[in-house]
This record gives sequence, structure tokens and C-alpha cells, in this order.
Amino acid sequence: MRNYLMCDRRQLVRPFFRAGVRNLFVLACFALCTVVSRPARAQAGSSEPALLLGSAWYPEQWPESRWDADLALMEAAHLHVVRVGEFAWSRMEPAEGQYDLDWLARAIRLAEKHHIAVVIGTPTDAPPAWLTSKYPDTLRMDENGRLAQHGGRRQFNYASPRYRLFCAEIASRLAQRFGHDPDVIGWQIGNEYTDESFDPATRALFQQWLQHRYGTLDALNQHWATAYWSQTYDRWDEIPLVASGGNPGLLLEHRHFVTDTWRDFQHVQIDAIRKNVDPRQFITTNIGGLAWSDHFDHYEMTRDLDLASWDDYVGQGQLDPVRNGAMHDFVRGWKRMPFWVMETQPGSVNWAPINTTLNHGETRVMAWQAIGHGANAVLYWQWRSALNGQEQYHGTLVGPDGEPMPIYSEVAQIGGEFEHVAPALRDTQPVAQVAILESYDSRWAIDFQPHNRSYDELQVLLDWYRPLRQKNLTVDIINASAPLNGYKLVVAPGLNVISPDLAAQLKAYVEQGGHLVLGPRSGMKDEYNSLNPQRQPGPLVSALGGRVEQYYALDGAVPVSGTLGSGTASTWAEQLSTEASDARVLLRYGKSNGWLDDQPAMITRPLGKGTITYLGAILDAPLMQKATAWMLDGAQVKPEFSALPEDVEVCRRVGTGHTIYILLNHGAQPAQIALPGPMTDVLANHAPVTQLTLGSHGVAVLEQQARATGR
Ligand code: GLA
Repeated sequence: MRNYLMCDRRQLVRPFFRAGVRNLFVLACFALCTVVSRPARAQAGSSEPALLLGSAWYPEQWPESRWDADLALMEAAHLHVVRVGEFAWSRMEPAEGQYDLDWLARAIRLAEKHHIAVVIGTPTDAPPAWLTSKYPDTLRMDENGRLAQHGGRRQFNYASPRYRLFCAEIASRLAQRFGHDPDVIGWQIGNEYTDESFDPATRALFQQWLQHRYGTLDALNQHWATAYWSQTYDRWDEIPLVASGGNPGLLLEHRHFVTDTWRDFQHVQIDAIRKNVDPRQFITTNIGGLAWSDHFDHYEMTRDLDLASWDDYVGQGQLDPVRNGAMHDFVRGWKRMPFWVMETQPGSVNWAPINTTLNHGETRVMAWQAIGHGANAVLYWQWRSALNGQEQYHGTLVGPDGEPMPIYSEVAQIGGEFEHVAPALRDTQPVAQVAILESYDSRWAIDFQPHNRSYDELQVLLDWYRPLRQKNLTVDIINASAPLNGYKLVVAPGLNVISPDLAAQLKAYVEQGGHLVLGPRSGMKDEYNSLNPQRQPGPLVSALGGRVEQYYALDGAVPVSGTLGSGTASTWAEQLSTEASDARVLLRYGKSNGWLDDQPAMITRPLGKGTITYLGAILDAPLMQKATAWMLDGAQVKPEFSALPEDVEVCRRVGTGHTIYILLNHGAQPAQIALPGPMTDVLANHAPVTQLTLGSHGVAVLEQQARATGR
């Protein structure tokens, strides 16, 4: 039985999944080590349209006689890509070791006939009944000790060495069969990694993982301060596998273990695919949870992939352009390159509390918003509902009779527009002057101990993101440890965990001319989720020339005012102090709880060629807008577009020698728009214009020549 190795990305110490022969284990070890640093995939061939519209399609659920009609309807709607296979394991391997991929080959040939490319999903999110029946150790166990069973999906144990062997085999056979197929352009590993396992074998793996990470129990006990509540561990096998309620150090390490386990799960299949396919075929996985889910670190998970992709759903209600735009920018930041929307809703879903349908025209605006934020493909989930199964009510492009649903015509319009505009968008992508820093360690640390149940880290991110977008600026959202060169302004709304290395990197950015703004709760913990033995922002106190004297969870508003304006703070407020003579107070609290009264809420200090600023409160929107204007002014961030009516969003994609602006009217009323200069409406083939009217849910794709406006 092959063993698989799990890479602890931080210390390159290699915990492992023990299942048998050691020499094979060593081989697997070196294989994975080398594969982890595999060179990036060759760029997609220019034969692919620069923009792809498509759908999830499940030929295995239908008579083969139906396939051509489906593909003809897709072609008529200008769809040029389908994703297939991710739930077809029972059809691919109807019995152990008996493979039938001929049907898939015939489906791909038919797709090719209709000028539709194919992304193949490995079917490892839903194992066949014979597999989990014969090998129950491949089943997942929940935190209450219940073993999953067949009949749904995601019943597998992500840590099971035996399951990985089956995954590697089916992935390998698919890759060997279709790895050089001209109509196959990429691979999706599994489908939305979701459920961990808490079975005894996985708990033992966690304990081994910890032993490799800490080396000794003394080190672990010290970093976790286990003298607290007499938690001190004297054996590795005493350490529990829990996802909540435990020691903060343990909880953070559990998230790291989950990340590394999913990454290893994924790598087994990447390894099996990559060596059997053309470099032009990309490998991705579709991250779910509306991108913001934090079961695992998405930066780590996409590190080994050629492309990031996510499943973008609204669920109930209407599109929230700011939230959805931020999530696109967050996904783009995982690999800092264009991405795919692997799934989105054709009008409605089936899993929301109330499965409302997007308004007429909203599906189109949502598709164009994805492109504007750096997506190069948008696929709908799904083409047609199986006649039975758990998702009969989900939105589809064709109905139970196989005929187009009302949404089909809106999607066909999008398809025609993508085809028309693709040449102008080729090799363009968003380019930002401003970056927002995100860190899973910080999110997890605050999640474990929010200290105010109203503290919502996504809302905190959006509080900082929204005013930047209201200034029509492109915003990158990147990992806190990512290189910062090229950004004029970097903001970090919630960097709770700041290690000495991260502090040094941030300080260097400032000293070299960057403008850094830290938000509330910054620098409270170290990388073991332990309190830094100093006030916030921890290792950046000396650079800031000030610190946090105390933090306060608020259950009401606190007045705030200063040179930037006046307003209120809510949910969280930190009492700051200044130490350095050149540290300036920008905002102070008004009368409050006696502790905050007249104390600094926002301070700034020049450092080297740049500035470092700390905002210790969650401000109301108008005051946050003023604070943001001050940040942009101080960093000399250049405007990217002229002022726009409130409900109109502009997205910029920069290419060589030309820039594309995508304007979206998210409002219910038409909007009159004055352009910053003559632009060609590529969508409407108009002559250059300097103004335009955009109807409700209207879209304009404008090209500006020659003025390549980079950062
Ligand atoms: C997820 C899954 C799909 C489907 C959709 C329904 O994104 O990846 O298989 O279940 O949700 O919205």
C-alpha cells in the first residue's frame, strides 16, 4: 500500500500517512517534494477564446442519444466550455479495477464537434458504493464519532491513505486517456473540498504532524502555555483532534493540519495527472464556500494549482456588487493572476433559505462583473437537472423537457457578447495601486475568540474595501506574506497574527516608501496563536512609535473626531498612545466609558521614505470614507476613472497599449455617465464616445487606446 507524505509548508518537516512499505514512502516523499515546486503551466494556447462561457454538464446522467441536442443548444448559446466528470466515478469504474472511459471519449468528441472545450473533473468527491462498502476505512467520521454513509456525496475520509490510492488511480487513468486530447483544456481536482474527518487514524496523523512540527512536547507545551488549566501534555497521543473549544494554539494547528491534509489529498492527484498530460492542460479545483470559507488556507491550497477557480453564488436575494466584487478580488489574489468562475447560478440555487431568482438582467451583470475583476471564464451550474437526485429545484439552462428555460436567452446574450469582446480583452488583467492584506492565521485567531459576537471579519474587510471601490480603484486582496513591491498603499484591516518575519517585511515596505495602514486587533498574537508579550501591534510597536494601551468590545457607538472629520466607532475600539515625537494623532474618541475619552483612535508616523498608520476602531461608513481619502492622498494613489453615479461600478483591465473599462449599472434606474476621455464601446461597436447612458443592469465595455495606465 503506497504511503503519502504531507508537506508541512512552514518547516518542510514531513509528517506522513503511514500505511505500509517504507521504501515506497521514501519514494513518495521525494516525488511530492519535487512536485511541490513544479514550474508553472505553459500559457494557454492563443487558440482558446480569451473569454469562455460554459456550463457543468453530466452526460453520464442521460442517454447518449440526447448528448448532441444538448451540445447543439449550448453552441447556439455561444457556450464554448463544459466541465464534466466530477460526479461520475460509478460510471467510470462500475466495479473495482474495471474502467469504462469510452463513453467520456465519445462525449468529448461530440463537444469538439460543437466547438466546445472540456474540463474534466476527477470524480473523487463522490466515491462509488462498492468502494466504501468494501473499504469502510475510506469513510469520513464527524466530530461526534458518526461514520458517513453512501447516498449523498463527500462521504470520504480526506486523510485516508487507501482512499488516496483509489483517487490517484482514477485520476491517473483519466489523465492517461485524455491528457493529450486536443479538446481537453484542463482538469478540476475533486469538487469543493469541504468535510474533514475526526476518526482515530486521522487523530493519530494529527498527533504525528504535531510531533514533526514541534519536535518535542516541551516545545508544544511552551508555545501553547499548557500550564494553563493543567493542560500539559506528557504524551503525543493525549492531544485531541478538535475544531472548536480547545486551546487557541491547538485550534490554529488543527486548521494548519486540515490545510496540509487537503493539500496533500490534492497533490496526490496533481502528481497523477501532471505527468500524463500536456503542459497546456491546466489543473485547478473549484473552491466553494463563496470563497470566504475558512476550513483551510486558500492561498496554500492554490499554491500547487495552475489556476484558481471558485463557485460564485448569490443564494437568496440580489447580487451584492461590493461583496461579490471583493470575493472576485480575493480569489484573484490567491495566485495573483486571472482566475475562473467554475460555477455560478443560472438565476437561482436550491440550498438557500428562500431560493429567490436573480432579477432579469442580473445574471448578465454578474457574469460581466466576474470578467471585470479578472475572471477569464464563467460556467453555469448546471445545464440540466437530473430527473432525480438532491438538486431537482436548482436553476438550470434547460428544463426537465430538455428545452431552454427563460434564463437561456440571457445566457445566450452573454455568450454572444463574450465571443464579440474576447479579442479586445485578450492578455488584459486588473492592475492595482492598492492592496488589502488578508491572513488565515489572523482570521482563525479572531474567529476562535471574537470577544464580541458582532465582530464579523468579512464585514471588517468590506468596511475597508468599499470606500476604495467607491473611488473607482482596482483593489488587490493578497496574502499578508506576499511581496508588496509596486503598491502605493497597503492596508491590513485585521492582522491579528504578526510574526517577527512578517513585521520585518512590513517595516521594510514602509521604509522603502510604502504607506501601510494597520486596522484593529493588529499584532496581538504570534504564529502559535500565543499573545505577543507586548502591547499591540506587537513587533511593530517601535516602527509605529505608539501602541494599543487597551482594547474594548463595544455594544454601542462611541464618538470619534479629529482632523479627518467626525463620526462614530462601533463593535471595537482600541485606546492608542503615542511614544515617538513624530507620531501624530489623526482621530480621538469623544466621551465614552472614561477609558477611551479623548484618547487616540488613529495615529500615523513617517518612517524611512513611507508612513505607518494604525486605526484602532471600526468607523462608521462616512468617517471611514474620509479616512480612506486621507490614506489615498498621502500615498499619492492616482485616480483610475472619473466620478460615477452611486450604483455604477467600473472595473479596469490593463493590457499592452490599451485599457478596457467595464461599466456595470447595478441600480434600478438608468445612469448618465461622463467618461474621462474618448473611449470605444467595444460591446456596441460604437465610434469613440465621451459620455453614455447605461440602463438598469446595463453593461458597457469600453476600450481606451495607447494610455496604458499601470499602477
Ligand atoms: C456547489 C457544488 C455543485 C452544486 C452547486 C449547487 O457549488 O460544487 O456540485 O451542488 O453547489 O449550487
